[in-house]
Amino acid sequence: MVGEIVGLFSEVPSGLIVDATLGGGGHSEALLESRPDITVLGLDRDPAALAAAGSRLARFGGRFRALHLRFDRLEEALEGVRASGVLFDLGVSSHQLDRPERGFSYRAGGPLDMRMDPSSGLTAADVVNTYPEAELVRVLREYADERFAVRIARAIVGARPLVDTAELAETIVAAIPAAARRTGPHPATRSFQAIRIEVNSELEVLEPALEAAIEGLAPGGRLAVLAYHSGEDRIVKSVLREASRTSPRGRPDLPPPPGFTPRLRLIRAAGRRPGETERVDNPRSTSARLRAAERI
Ligand SMILES: C[S@@+](CC[C@H](N)C(=O)[O-])C[C@H]1O[C@@H](n2cnc3c(N)ncnc32)[C@H](O)[C@@H]1O
Repeated sequence: MVGEIVGLFSEVPSGLIVDATLGGGGHSEALLESRPDITVLGLDRDPAALAAAGSRLARFGGRFRALHLRFDRLEEALEGVRASGVLFDLGVSSHQLDRPERGFSYRAGGPLDMRMDPSSGLTAADVVNTYPEAELVRVLREYADERFAVRIARAIVGARPLVDTAELAETIVAAIPAAARRTGPHPATRSFQAIRIEVNSELEVLEPALEAAIEGLAPGGRLAVLAYHSGEDRIVKSVLREASRTSPRGRPDLPPPPGFTPRLRLIRAAGRRPGETERVDNPRSTSARLRAAERI
């Protein structure tokens, strides 16, 4: 949805755009090309992404800089500057998924890692080999709506110690009833997503990050968020809705009390989905949902 993102930021005041999920730098590159009057600050918790985007965007010289930072520390990154735009393209990058040694993929054998920042924190091995069964059920249900969560959690506990992603994928697939395995995406997709979200505390950092972005925007500045699953999108929708409320919560019939002003104007009230062409060209975009708002 690069075209949509460039379109959204084509109307913001000139100044700084924060790409809070720099990844390979594709969105940053398109933004820098589209507007000579903007600079981009890219954030990523993955040092490999910073290196890849750094070489791709070197040609923009001082118009681009990058920081190794988790995006909920956005306020710190802004150092008091009000941004003209903040972009979040959530989740994992193709780069991370395509490298078996990062442990994100059920398709190729790799270590049970799944950390976006390999220098710190819990690994997938910690989750699958040490979490109590009930905690595994919670992770699978909460982060992936996995209907076979109980069976999968039991199978994981029974197969301990799991040593790599191939063994984890086989254990998950074997726990799912044969009939349910025949349709839809690879049967281990949802469980791998859930474990990755737990490893990286992806949902916990999202709300504070969105709040920091709203507070860090200059008037007329825009926030755009691409979410890839319902858990993420629910948080984005609720934060944007709350910040754009024009009447007190639960009383749409009442006029706003004195001093009550919304901070945002929604630009995409209902989440936009990628078009048919993009879904065919880039199957990973299929579940993407774009929400955007403007700072008042
Ligand atoms: C879907 S990719 C972004 C791809 C990018 N828009 C591009 O055009 O190449 C998401 C990136 O965000 C990073 N990321 C995810 N959660 C993060 C967080 N809480 N803080 C900083 N970076 C994060 C990931 O490491 C990954 O590189």
